[in-house]
Amino acid sequence: MTFVRLCNIALMILLVLSLGLHLVLRRTAGQPNPDLFPDMVHTARYNAFAPNPYFASGATLQVPDPRTSPHNGAPLGYGPGAQEAARAARDLRNPLSAQEPASLERGKIVFSNFCQPCHGSAGRGDGPVVARGFPAPPSLAAEHAQALPDGHLFHIVTHGQGNMAGYAAQLSQADRWKAILFVRSLQRQGNAAALGGSR
Ligand code: HEC
Repeated sequence: MTFVRLCNIALMILLVLSLGLHLVLRRTAGQPNPDLFPDMVHTARYNAFAPNPYFASGATLQVPDPRTSPHNGAPLGYGPGAQEAARAARDLRNPLSAQEPASLERGKIVFSNFCQPCHGSAGRGDGPVVARGFPAPPSLAAEHAQALPDGHLFHIVTHGQGNMAGYAAQLSQADRWKAILFVRSLQRQGNAAALGGSR
C-alpha cells in the first residue's frame, strides 16, 4: 500500500468521524449559542408601569423633561364630536396670518397634497377622488363653509367630520392652520369671482 493511499484512507476515516460527531453533537436550531461573556446580554427590563429602583421617583415611566416638546406640538385639548367642534370654534384663533406669504404658500402646498384630491383645486368639491365615486364634500366656497369660524375648520381638519377623516396624524398643527389660511384665500377668490372682480 502506498503512502498516498494510506493518507487517503486516513482522511476518509477522519471525514466520516467528524460527520458522525457533528450528527451526535448537533444543536437544535432554536437554541441560542452559549454566551461566553454574558455581562451585558441579559439586562434588566422594566414594564412601563412597574416600580423601578433606578429612578428617584421609583417609577419606570418618566414625565417628559419640560424642555422637550412633542414632535407634533402641544396636545390640542379638543376631542372629536360636534360639541368639541363648537368649543374649538369659539376658543381657537388662527395663530398665523395670510399676510405672511410663506404661510400661505405652504398652505397651498398642503391643500393641493391633502385636500384637493377630494375638495378640488378651487374647493368646489370636485376633486379626482370624488370623480371616482367618493361622496362629494360641500363646496368650501359656499356660504356654509365661509361662515364656519377658523377654530371649527381646525377641528374638522384635526378630527374629521362625517365622511372626511382627520389629518392630525399627517399634518402638524402649523400645517393645518396654513391649509386653513389657503382655504380662506380660496373663499376670497370665489367671492371676487362671484362679484365679477379679478380672478
Ligand atoms: C377623502 C376626501 C377628503 C379629503 C382628502 C379632505 N376632505 Fe374635507 N371633507 C370631505 C367630505 C366628504 C366632507 C363632508 C363631511 C360631512 O359629511 O360632514 C368634508 C368636509 C370638509 C369641511 C366642512 C365643509 C362644510 O361646509 O361643512 C371642511 C372645512 C373641509 N372638509 C376641509 C378640508 C381640508 C382643509 C382638507 C385637507 C387638509 C380636507 N378637507 C381633506 C372629504 C375630504
